[in-house]
Amino acid sequence: MRVAIGCDHAGFELKQEIIRLLKSLGHEPQDVGAHDTQPSDYPDYVKDVAEAVRTKKSDMGIFICGTGIGPTMAANKIKGIRAALCHDTFSAHSSREHNDANVLCLGARVIGFGLAGDIVKTWLSAPFTGEERHSRRIAKLMALEQKDV
Ligand code: RB5
Repeated sequence: MRVAIGCDHAGFELKQEIIRLLKSLGHEPQDVGAHDTQPSDYPDYVKDVAEAVRTKKSDMGIFICGTGIGPTMAANKIKGIRAALCHDTFSAHSSREHNDANVLCLGARVIGFGLAGDIVKTWLSAPFTGEERHSRRIAKLMALEQKDV
């Protein structure tokens, strides 16, 4: 899977570990930066992750900062993006199965590499169920961004 991955300064070290994990699992990480721990602004990088997913240059996106909160807010402002902040594996697979999430946000100041790695593995391997009730709800969710509700 082509996985766009980005971070700010707070997520840089965990991002490097997740990139190594993705490669070991046979995925293709597409690193949009940041490339160091110098203070940076998460919207500058999450925009690139979300754009890569929206334009289908990537199959999925992952963003890591201190808490994951700001990037989740930012990514969900971009059309076609369903970003989920997950710090447990139940939320991770539910966000795929029920919500067809296409961007995963993580907080490096909230969880460590062990849990983050399990969340990433769980999230990437859980398919959207495609059940009618979930598809119906996602259609309503996506209609909100068109302001045609
Ligand atoms: C950076 O200090 C921090 O605010 C950022 O990484 C993130 O937690 C924002 O949501």
